[in-house]
Amino acid sequence: MSQAIAHPVTSSTIETLLNHRSVRQFTDEAVAPEVLETLFNVGRMVSTSNYLQAVSVVRVTDPELRRKFRQISVDMDEETYNKAVAEGKKLGHPYVETAPELLIFCIDTHRHHQLVPSAQTDWMEVTLIGAVDVALFAQNMMAAAESIGLGGVYLGSMRNDVKRASELINAPEHVFPLFGMCLGYPTEEAKQIAQKPRLPLEALVSENSFEPATQPQLDSYNAEVRAYYEARGDHKLADWTAQVEKTFGTPLRSDVKDVLNTQGFGKR
Ligand SMILES: Cc1cc2nc3c(=O)[nH]c(=O)nc-3n(C[C@H](O)[C@H](O)[C@H](O)COP(=O)(O)O)c2cc1C
Repeated sequence: MSQAIAHPVTSSTIETLLNHRSVRQFTDEAVAPEVLETLFNVGRMVSTSNYLQAVSVVRVTDPELRRKFRQISVDMDEETYNKAVAEGKKLGHPYVETAPELLIFCIDTHRHHQLVPSAQTDWMEVTLIGAVDVALFAQNMMAAAESIGLGGVYLGSMRNDVKRASELINAPEHVFPLFGMCLGYPTEEAKQIAQKPRLPLEALVSENSFEPATQPQLDSYNAEVRAYYEARGDHKLADWTAQVEKTFGTPLRSDVKDVLNTQGFGKR
């Protein structure tokens, strides 16, 4: 099922990584505690900027908390959401509630302040360090999970209301929930989902000096994405340009900066 990407060198790790697709439908099979522990260990062994390990993970097992995180994924206030649910509407990302595992990945410099109370962690650079650390930790877990037959999806939608997400996990100052991750065993249907095409290498990689993508490269990629959506019978988006317009066409989670600041990050 792997997308036909030419890769002259291979290994089981490379095969796993090339076979990636997000999984949003899970079987009822639980992720065994020893599996989860192994995945966390894989996460914590990843490279970490300045050996700072600016990461924390909150595992959400409380169904009521799951429900509240799903509500955030809808980007609706609680009253409207509850009313819509009472009317039987299926809203937001159901997998936030139903996935066997929901993990919230946080930038964490709280423990650094425990050790060094005068630690200067409010520089923007520290936010970048933390965001990179968190992403690497999480992606090590995701790749390891996929290598043993699990699947998952990241949840940036948690930042639809990141203040509320912070409150839900009782994040103290110096902790910022960056994204979530659902994990579990993919249903047969989820395994069959075609991989989403990526930008071609020529548009991504240059030598010695930055080269922007050319218009023909972008046009050709747009055509590929259009064909992908058409094959899926998904007409919500026309092509990649439409995706970019949808995401960058309006202010994107404009409260994030304030919440970062409140949590003690990115002030200078
Ligand atoms: C940081 C991050 C946040 C994401 N947030 C969401 C999300 O909130 N909901 C969702 O369904 N998918 C989310 N995704 C998954 C992307 O939509 C997905 O990776 C992308 O469309 C490419 O598809 P693929 O992973 O199947 O190749 C997120 C991915 C990343 C890396």
